[in-house]
Amino acid sequence: MVYPIYLYGNPVLRKQAQPIDKDYPELKQFISDMFDTLYKAEDGIGLAAPQVGKSIRLFVIDLSLLAEDKPEYKGWKKVFINAEITERFGDNVSMDEGCLSIPGLTETVSRKKSIIIKYVDENFEEHEETYSGYPARVIQHEYDHIDGHVYIDHISPIRRQLIKSKLNNIAKGKVSCHYKVKSA
Ligand code: NI
Repeated sequence: MVYPIYLYGNPVLRKQAQPIDKDYPELKQFISDMFDTLYKAEDGIGLAAPQVGKSIRLFVIDLSLLAEDKPEYKGWKKVFINAEITERFGDNVSMDEGCLSIPGLTETVSRKKSIIIKYVDENFEEHEETYSGYPARVIQHEYDHIDGHVYIDHISPIRRQLIKSKLNNIAKGKVSCHYKVKSA
């Protein structure tokens, strides 16, 4: 099943999402639906549960869509549950980001180059991994979502002022995009 994607302005995107345990109902199906929703949106490479209205600490990332340019991302498909970023380190790197919950906008965001993250996967196996570069970028973006943040929280107040009317329109559901969305 493909979920509608909740738009910027919906309160679920501002909630601190809750951890889940193994017994979370229909978890396998939900994960499969998350990937279906992501693929339906085509230009997305990551999706967090709050973006489909579920305030739980789960996000999915599939970098294989970029494998044409970057062969090392072939098969890079992961589920992060109950994730905790324990360390962010290295240089600050600026890069353009977009978000399926904020259609039609991209903004430059500065983030740390590297992270250490603890999480469990879809089988509740524990992992502690270090990521750098693009994967670290995407993970930090999705991780923001489970803490009730969105990437534009990181941009300057002046920049935010400049895109204010666009954001207001998105919050009202006035967007044109090819995937199903849900406003507040
Ligand atoms: Ni996002």
